[in-house]
Parts: sequence; structure tokens; C-alpha cells
Amino acid sequence: MTDSGPPVVAPGAPGAPGARAAAASPAGAAAAAPSRRITAVTSGKGGVGKTFVSTNLAAALARAGRRVLVLDADLGLANLDVVLNLWPKITLHEVFTGKAALADAILPAPGGFSVLLAGSGMVEYSRMTPEVRLQLQRVIDEVAPRYDHVLLDTGAGISDLVLYTVSLAAHVLVTATPEPTSLTDAYATIKVLAATQGRRHIHLVVNQVRRPGEGRSVRAQLQQVVDRYVSPTLEAPVRIELLGEVPTDPAVREAVLRRQLLLETLPGTAASLAVVAMAARWPQ
Ligand SMILES: Nc1ncnc2c1ncn2[C@@H]1O[C@H](COP(=O)(O)OP(=O)(O)OP(=O)(O)O)[C@@H](O)[C@H]1O
Ligand SMILES: [Mg+2]
Repeated sequence: MTDSGPPVVAPGAPGAPGARAAAASPAGAAAAAPSRRITAVTSGKGGVGKTFVSTNLAAALARAGRRVLVLDADLGLANLDVVLNLWPKITLHEVFTGKAALADAILPAPGGFSVLLAGSGMVEYSRMTPEVRLQLQRVIDEVAPRYDHVLLDTGAGISDLVLYTVSLAAHVLVTATPEPTSLTDAYATIKVLAATQGRRHIHLVVNQVRRPGEGRSVRAQLQQVVDRYVSPTLEAPVRIELLGEVPTDPAVREAVLRRQLLLETLPGTAASLAVVAMAARWPQ
């Protein structure tokens, strides 16, 4: 990203402010703050590695003895089932429509963590209706107390659905690659989350780095633009914290093609070790 001006951000990001409170009660009473266990893994640009990070970070945390659940929050374009090679009859769809109990939709994943899958092709869920809001919040509130970490693998961008899902989480983990398009979109996401959800602390994973240390320089570039164009418009500055960087590694694609978790199938590879290092730095 150059310093020539603020990256373009879609004006008036819809739906996020007070989304949780509005969904919590028809009367609009304030809801409790999201549980500190809940983290939204999100990104500006699509395809930058959110699902890779969510699932492998979950496996690394599980290996460290934590109870972890990953929820496929990309409801309209869900693909956690494909990545993990799990084909359950009961998904969030059955839970949302009252056909199955929540407990029956929670499955053990190969990496030692639990998953709640949305099922592929549930296009009707790509629109954020009040019903979907309520169902999603109810499910997350119900599962959160049973886990040390709940990771919401969200869609990309700043749609209503993505912003609402992120609003249900206490922590935000933005995934970006060093590509200028990804950085510009990460900036847009951080700006909208700061302005509409009062976010002042963003965790960052820089995926697909080409050299060691590139994550630090990406963080510094993003922080510089945020300091210049976003923080002055707010009462308190936004801090971007680098959780870690992951190198570009052909093993990641290989694991996806095998439909297995990288940490399980190719554990000694550079990307695998980078995720394990990130898990060690993850806040308790
Ligand atoms: N560190 C890496 N090295 C090499 N390839 C990678 C790496 N991370 C991700 N990829 C490739 O990028 C693809 C997309 O990753 P992933 O599905 O995790 O992205 P995503 O952000 O979840 O996408 P979406 O926005 O569609 O949900 C992977 O299938 C893999 O082929
Ligand atoms: Mg994904």
C-alpha cells in the first residue's frame, strides 16, 4: 500500500452498529458483551486463508490442551465441510430450522477440535434476515461457555452478514496477504470495524509471506495508514497486533487437495510450524 491517500472504503457499511443488541431482544435492550472466548477470523479480500488459519489454529490450540470449536460462519458459501472432508446429515441449517438439536450438529474434527458446519450451497443464508441473526446468536451463546476458544470462520468483506458475525465476537483476527489488493481490503475492514463496532484492537495474521519478516512490514504499513486516516476520527487509536506470519507453502494446497488438515497430514512443513507458533502466542 502506498502512502498517497486513503484506500477506498465502501461508504456507510450497513448493519453492524448495535447488530448484536438489536438481535438480542425484540425490544432492542442492550445485550451482554460477546464472550471473551469468541474470535472472528475475517478478511477484506476473499481467498486469503481464513479457513486455513481457523482450522489449523484450532488444531494447534487443541493440541495444546484447549477445548476449541470452529463454526463455519460463511453461511451462504460454507466450505469447512469440504476442507475437513466431513459430510454430516445435521448442520446449522437443521438447527436453524428446528429439525435437529444443536448438540447433534457439533462434530469432532480430525484435528481434535469440534466443528459446527453450515453445509454447502445454503444460499438463502447469504442474506442477513432477523431470523438468521437470532439463530446465529443463539447458537453461539449456547456453545461459547463449553469451549476455551470459539473461532468464527467468516466470509470475506464488509457485507451485513460478515459484519454481524464479527459483532458477535470479542476478538477479531484479520487475515491478509502482502498483495496490495488484500492490504487495501484489510484496511477497509479495519476501518469499518473501528468506526461501527468500536474496535480498537485488531489481531492480524499475514498469510502467504515470501520472506521472513514480511508480516512485520505489512503490519507496520497497515498501522501507518490507520494512524493517519482512521484513528484521528476516533476518540482512541486503533492498534493492530501481529499474531504471526505464515509463508507461502505448497503443502497448504496439497493438504486442501487431500482434504486433510495441514497440521495432521504435513506437520513438519513451514506453514504448519508457523501456525503452531501463532497458537503459542494466542491470548489465553
Ligand atoms: N500459506 C499458504 N501457502 C500456499 N497456499 C495457501 C496458503 N494459504 C492459503 N493458500 C491457498 O489459498 C486457498 C484459499 O485458502 P482459504 O480457503 O483458507 O481462504 P479463505 O480466506 O477462507 O477463502 P474464502 O474467502 O473463500 O472463505 C487454499 O485452498 C490454498 O490453496
Ligand atoms: Mg473460507
